[in-house]
Amino acid sequence: MKRLLSAIFLVLVLCSCATSEEDTLKKCGYSDEEITAIMKLSAENKKRFMSERQDELLKFVCNEDFVEENLDRYLQCYAASDEDLIIEKVNKGIMNKDNAARLRELYSSEYYIPEKEELYVEYLYRYLSLRDVIEMVNTKRYLDLYTDIQPVDMTKGNLILVNKYYQLAQDYEPDDLVEVSEVPGRGYLRKEVYEAYKALYEDAIKLGYNLNVVSAYRSYASQYSLYNRYLSIDPQEVVDTYSARPGHSEHQSGLCLDVSIPGYSLDDFHKTQASVWLAENCCRYGFIIRYPDDKTDITGYQGEPWQLRYLGKEISEDVSKRGITYDEYYACFVE
Ligand code: DAL
Repeated sequence: MKRLLSAIFLVLVLCSCATSEEDTLKKCGYSDEEITAIMKLSAENKKRFMSERQDELLKFVCNEDFVEENLDRYLQCYAASDEDLIIEKVNKGIMNKDNAARLRELYSSEYYIPEKEELYVEYLYRYLSLRDVIEMVNTKRYLDLYTDIQPVDMTKGNLILVNKYYQLAQDYEPDDLVEVSEVPGRGYLRKEVYEAYKALYEDAIKLGYNLNVVSAYRSYASQYSLYNRYLSIDPQEVVDTYSARPGHSEHQSGLCLDVSIPGYSLDDFHKTQASVWLAENCCRYGFIIRYPDDKTDITGYQGEPWQLRYLGKEISEDVSKRGITYDEYYACFVE
């Protein structure tokens, strides 16, 4: 009997404590729903809500994915209005107080690729700028060149990516090659590319730029001989900065061409007014300069202001407007 009375007494005391806690919370202005969430917390955490309304803490506590043991970690990473993100990333062990600010910046970048999250997190500490981390991860440049080589995804049509990580099949040859015949120069291009180039050429000549096609489609076999000829002149690490290994040249796609101006070698092309005009205007005809001077870290090639890559007008204008390489663009918007 005595035991029963003590038990009833204990229950009454506990109920009155709970009631008085709920009353205190009500007085602080919490809604019934908020009070239910707060009442589930440990005594220590509950106390944090008892003196006045804690809107920041509430955002976390009332979130359906809230894990109480992570509360302090959420707060360390907190910036106004991103509690969902913090809860998700802290719960997964990705975000902490040291990387929170940079990670939030990363997640809001239009170049962020969710499937590559682990890699960004791994490289976040190694590079000074977030931009470098994004470039490096998106373009696989954290790997040695010519490693982890994948076949080119031919389903992408004019938007295929051919580079040191993506290789064309040895027997790939476009089925709609046409001869470059109505403009100065020689070679073969895919039909759509040739049509676009003719329009570019016609406008260029009106401005006095007499562009000449010096190299267009190259088969796997001709790229093989070219690359090997260069190897007899320069060491491979040098050749790799200016010539693609067989299967890795965009020339095999029929979607690119090299142009020059009479009287200038390719190496001097950058000195011509035509190269300036081309860099600024080729996107209006569906082309980009594939290997810009200042992007060798990404492309793996020294600048080639003479190499035009066809992407179609809409994409080439978008790539140019963004000021990024096609390697980066492909990873974010095409792949
Ligand atoms: N010159 C470029 C990189 C090629 O060989 O395709």
